[in-house]
Amino acid sequence: MFKVPPVTEQRLQQLLRAMPKAELHIHIEGSLEPELIFALAQRNGVPLPYASVEDLRQAYAFTNLQSFLDIYYAGASVLLHEQDFYDMARAYLARAAIDNVAHAEIFFDPQTHTARGVAMETVINGLHRACADARSELGISATLILCFLRHLSEASAFETLEQAQPLLDKIVGVGLDSSELGHPPEKFARVFARCRELGLHRVAHAGEEGPPAYIWSALDALKVERIDHGVQAMHDAALMQRLAQDRIPLTVCPLSNQKLCVFPDLKNHNLRQLLDAGLCATVNSDDPAYFGGYINENFTQVFAATAMTARHAYQLAFNSFEASFASNADKRVWEHRLKETFERFVEHD
Ligand code: ADE
Ligand code: ZN
Repeated sequence: MFKVPPVTEQRLQQLLRAMPKAELHIHIEGSLEPELIFALAQRNGVPLPYASVEDLRQAYAFTNLQSFLDIYYAGASVLLHEQDFYDMARAYLARAAIDNVAHAEIFFDPQTHTARGVAMETVINGLHRACADARSELGISATLILCFLRHLSEASAFETLEQAQPLLDKIVGVGLDSSELGHPPEKFARVFARCRELGLHRVAHAGEEGPPAYIWSALDALKVERIDHGVQAMHDAALMQRLAQDRIPLTVCPLSNQKLCVFPDLKNHNLRQLLDAGLCATVNSDDPAYFGGYINENFTQVFAATAMTARHAYQLAFNSFEASFASNADKRVWEHRLKETFERFVEHD
């Protein structure tokens, strides 16, 4: 690992913004800004239970995961046509490029849309076209991860997989999200086994609000390659050892954890402890339109709150590339760019 010299606090904040990084935990429906929700509602004639953009923003005061999900699913109801999915993903990718995201692995929740009569191909084709255009026009690499909603049944997940089958060349993997408590990963063991046979990568939300036992079963019953969130692992020493030993990445989302009251305050966040324990932790935005910031805001705020160093910054960006499902050739290019960025900053300090 490249030896990272210390830099001043101000310089570190600039470095956090400038360094190339991968974003591995972003729900595309959670990137819908209130302005775009209103514009799409008007374009599609969908009524909203809010009088204005400000009125909607006022509702973004969450006490836990479920209080957020109720509003998040209501916001997604404005998405009807392929162009809507394109516009949403394109807006996120343009914003991510500004934050020096070199590569994004984007979650989407098809059941939220198919339940409203939107075809699977409408969803995937719109998102995929935005990813392809972003590569050629913004120079950002982007792939898609289809998430099953865990509050729905195994049968619904299987039906969703079947609908996606003709479009599998447009997605890199599958995930598991929505209400965690009461919906343990093993509910989806057979679906994930089928996805594995189909050659898809696998990730799952676990240990966001739920217990360490859900992280164990995501690993052992679903055979996931990454854990989304995973911050509750700190309560289980044997699990911490397993995650460190097997270098199972955690896609941590500091501002999300703060807004959903997983930690009382950002200064109590355990990202630094996870990293210092040797885990492959990464920083991500989760649902940036709802939680007060895109990926760079997550980096700068959690660093300011927990006094992490340039060495942590380098490790987090390096981990994000290592943990991605990109090719080894792409990873080496991004890691080289990361090292160059750090050398440039240190030279001019
Ligand atoms: N869907 C969107 N954001 C989520 C989160 N933070 N946890 C679970 N499901 C989600
Ligand atoms: Zn999430």
